[in-house]
Amino acid sequence: MRRQIPYGSQWIDDSDVAAVARVLKGDLITQGPVAEEFERKICELTGAKYCVCLANGTAALHLAVMALEIEKGMEGITSTNTFVASSNAFIYSGLKPVLADIDPRTFNIFPEDLKKRITKKTRVIIPVHFAGQPCETAKIRALAGKKIHIIEDAAHAIGSKYEDGSPVGACKHSDMTVFSFHPVKTITSGEGGAITTNSKELYERLKSMRICGVVRDIPNKPGPWYYEVQRLGFNYRLTDIHCALGISQLGKLGAFIKRRREIVARYNKELAGLPVLTLPYERPDVFSAFHLYVSLIDFKALGKSRKWVIETLLKVNIGTQVHYIPVHLQPYYRKEFGYRKGDLPNSEKYYDQALSLPLYPRMTDEEVAHVLKNLKKVLS
Ligand SMILES: Cc1ncc(COP(=O)(O)O)c(C=O)c1O
Repeated sequence: MRRQIPYGSQWIDDSDVAAVARVLKGDLITQGPVAEEFERKICELTGAKYCVCLANGTAALHLAVMALEIEKGMEGITSTNTFVASSNAFIYSGLKPVLADIDPRTFNIFPEDLKKRITKKTRVIIPVHFAGQPCETAKIRALAGKKIHIIEDAAHAIGSKYEDGSPVGACKHSDMTVFSFHPVKTITSGEGGAITTNSKELYERLKSMRICGVVRDIPNKPGPWYYEVQRLGFNYRLTDIHCALGISQLGKLGAFIKRRREIVARYNKELAGLPVLTLPYERPDVFSAFHLYVSLIDFKALGKSRKWVIETLLKVNIGTQVHYIPVHLQPYYRKEFGYRKGDLPNSEKYYDQALSLPLYPRMTDEEVAHVLKNLKKVLS
């Protein structure tokens, strides 16, 4: 019996297990020197000056917005086509989440729509590099001007590159960039997240916020035990156990992305020309790490529902997923912020057709062939 092919999955090998075991056999298992090494390595990869690793990407988004110390009642804008953590981050800090529509080709926040949503109250924008494809960050920076902060949500985009070839996370056009190391992401630390920044001030603030607001480096302190709580914080530490896995995985990032892109190229080649299918578009001037392979299926033209397609593929052990139900259509957002169906038409049209096909580096050529054969059968 064939094992289930999921839409995404981690790839853990013996070297990862050995790296974690080394930490477990040592004296320090919570946040310590291995976390510092993980942060240094993320800085090397991205070119950012500072990095703070955190319990997960949601915690990273929470702290990133909170660290900006924005007055309550102001507004933050993000794409409606994201995991809800991106927009919840505004709400945690008392900001109103304003959701923007997507570019129908890239599925990223649409600068033209974003422009219309900037008001006197806008204080921060979170562009999400959906599926690994970098947003038009320079354009967004130009729209935002100098006063509006930008936090890039790069949960999908470690290893991706902007128009100028620089790595996502360098924070050239943003205050901070947030990563997630959840198992379906390009690399994993089990659970985990990180923020990169070039601001020493934000870095110091974030470091204390992840340990309940504690600051230990106090000039002329009365003794070694002394620390001060200088702001509100949380326990959002990432342990050395997780970081050992993260470092080990980071060493394989290039190989993981190469394999992802090989699978993408094969899907693109073999699925081209199917009349009901639109293949994912990669802007020619950027490099996507391809966290997801999102296809658009014209279910009306096919004469079958998405549910039928998903269930038929599941019968032959092929898992698929939908990324994402637009955030503005979620009951909580409708109730609290008055969103309605029809508000963001590009994203709603996209949602009606989106289906993420299996994509992960451990996927074998035979598994790719199995997906292709069955998908073609289902869609013809
Ligand atoms: C775009 C995006 N932002 C943020 C997150 C939150 O990351 P985490 O699951 O590590 O909390 C995710 C995770 O799925 C995500 O896809």
